[in-house]
Amino acid sequence: MKKNLLRAGLALCVALVGPWATAQDFPSRPITMVMPYAPGGPGDAITRLFAGAMQKQLGQQIVVDNPAGASGSIGTAKVARAKPDGYTLLMIHVSHATNTAMYKNLPYHPVDDFEPIGRATIGPMLIVARNDFPAKDLKEWLSYVKTNAPKISLAHAGVGSASHLCGLMMMNALNVKFNEIPYKGTGPALTDLLGGQVDLMCDQTSGTVPSVKAEKIKAYAAVGKTRLSGLPDLPAIAEAGVQGFDITISFGLYAPKGLPKPVLDTLTSALQKSVADPEVKQRLDAMGVTAVSPDMARPEALRAHLKYEMESLNSLLTKAGVKAN
Ligand code: MLT
Repeated sequence: MKKNLLRAGLALCVALVGPWATAQDFPSRPITMVMPYAPGGPGDAITRLFAGAMQKQLGQQIVVDNPAGASGSIGTAKVARAKPDGYTLLMIHVSHATNTAMYKNLPYHPVDDFEPIGRATIGPMLIVARNDFPAKDLKEWLSYVKTNAPKISLAHAGVGSASHLCGLMMMNALNVKFNEIPYKGTGPALTDLLGGQVDLMCDQTSGTVPSVKAEKIKAYAAVGKTRLSGLPDLPAIAEAGVQGFDITISFGLYAPKGLPKPVLDTLTSALQKSVADPEVKQRLDAMGVTAVSPDMARPEALRAHLKYEMESLNSLLTKAGVKAN
């Protein structure tokens, strides 16, 4: 009798202390950071940079995994189903907000099924084209696309992705309709742009600046009102009188809902140190991207930003009558 009581008491202690003890020695094994778009794209570049920086802070390997498809919702669903122990994380941007409006049977909710850890970056977007696109500057490009739109292919990473949203805003602002070609990420889309298989793309600088600077693709404008410090001769689209076409892309880090508080605090601290890391800032700067300040690399800031994007961008998509399925 006594033995059974002792055994039951021990089992109860393990059950109560187990998760706490696990959380206290976190991380004790490698972490997976999911980037739900294909390798070689702007999100992958940013994710690998933060995986390396946070690995240094946490003293554990961080492996990047790219389960791509359906505008990031396949990889995002994988994280929603993972154990909330801190060993599976999600690095994602605006599509965490827009996919809810895009996909009827999304197997997760962006707020209810995730624990925000913090914001990481903010970055601009560029209008780029295959190198032999028949326009030598922004003025010629505007004239050409307005008269030839149905013959022009626009690559993007799926309905609700950053490149799709940018393309949608561009078509709305110019009152044109391109022939949309979806990919599993703008990494593979850029490969086809470099090869001349597609004509245009509206993409983040973290995926396109190296090819622009190497003159392998043409950039016609920075999206929005402001020129990029890294491409000072490139006009902003607003300089050509195009209004209402402005979007920046912010990446944030999430875990599955139910993350123990000590684990959340450890991950938030590692993210805050990474955004403040001079090497991270310098490498982001080379991509035309800015690290957020440490006070934005916290759960409350990411939660607020997701709310803002869900409210502001979904109205744009609904107005445009856009639905994935
Ligand atoms: C990527 O990394 O492929 C992009 O972030 C996809 C997108 O355009 O949203």
